[in-house]
Amino acid sequence: MSVAIGRSVTLNNGVVIPTLGLGVWQMREGAETENAVRWALDAGYRMIDTARLYGNERSVGRAVRASGIPREEIFVTTKLFPTGFFDPQKAFETSFAKLDIGYIDLYLIHNPVSFIPGFRGLRTRAWIVLEKLLARGRVRAIGISNYSIANTGEVLAAGKIVPAVNQVRFNPFDYKGALLDYSKSKNIIVEAYSPLTRAKRLNHPVIRKVADAHNKSPAQVLIHWALQHGTVVIPKSSNRERIAANAQVFDFALTDGEMRELDALTG
Ligand SMILES: NC(=O)c1ccc[n+]([C@@H]2O[C@H](COP(=O)([O-])OP(=O)(O)OC[C@H]3O[C@@H](n4cnc5c(N)ncnc54)[C@H](OP(=O)(O)O)[C@@H]3O)[C@@H](O)[C@H]2O)c1
Repeated sequence: MSVAIGRSVTLNNGVVIPTLGLGVWQMREGAETENAVRWALDAGYRMIDTARLYGNERSVGRAVRASGIPREEIFVTTKLFPTGFFDPQKAFETSFAKLDIGYIDLYLIHNPVSFIPGFRGLRTRAWIVLEKLLARGRVRAIGISNYSIANTGEVLAAGKIVPAVNQVRFNPFDYKGALLDYSKSKNIIVEAYSPLTRAKRLNHPVIRKVADAHNKSPAQVLIHWALQHGTVVIPKSSNRERIAANAQVFDFALTDGEMRELDALTG
């Protein structure tokens, strides 16, 4: 069965997000990040995923402004790091000022830090602040990251707004079928981070075999696998050729059998 993969998807509040974006974790502020964002925009990407934690929001903003592409055609995500739970508004203003792009498209709670019991109340209060930022038009959509089904249930119970996305690690070695089904049932889009296994498992024989069958690279197969599962995908690369190659993922389809074989790599 062939599955058509869209270049964008509509979030639960009507905002449209590209299905492929550039992740910029572990890129240095300055030339590395600015070049990568520029090359990605040149290659047709229209979504960039950064975070306060990554320390490169200023460079992302600079590259977006310098691109000459109308602001409304580029989708920028940043994230509230848990140290910001104590004063989410202040943390937001810092990210907002560093990016300096007028508004933020998607603002995520970076991590629920579930292992610290005392953070439950803090992250719930942080979510309410995000709802206010949305109401005031400072951000176009709000969401969560690294949330389990139980953590997500907490947000649904405590807040008024259903998160637009949940950004989680998602690749064939970490296939989260139950979270995907749950998120679909709540109209929450799953965003796939570390889709390339952080380059650690690209040479796995099953991935190689599928890649060879489609005349694609292992990275292209992994990005497509995540897209075909209905997620939004944010591979990271600082390399111009790899950034461009990672976007060539819309011209093939994996068979049901290949999808199942890749899903089964989850240990
Ligand atoms: N919310 C969260 O907690 C969280 C956590 C982790 C990541 N993220 C987001 O998700 C993004 C992506 O995840 P990630 O950075 O963990 O890992 P990833 O995208 O799975 O892998 C990135 C690694 O793959 C290499 N690579 C990229 N394209 C390649 C290709 N075509 N062939 C071979 N190697 C390739 C990159 O090296 P080069 O740069 O040299 O190409 C880099 O070492 C992050 O940048 C970040 O935006 C979010």
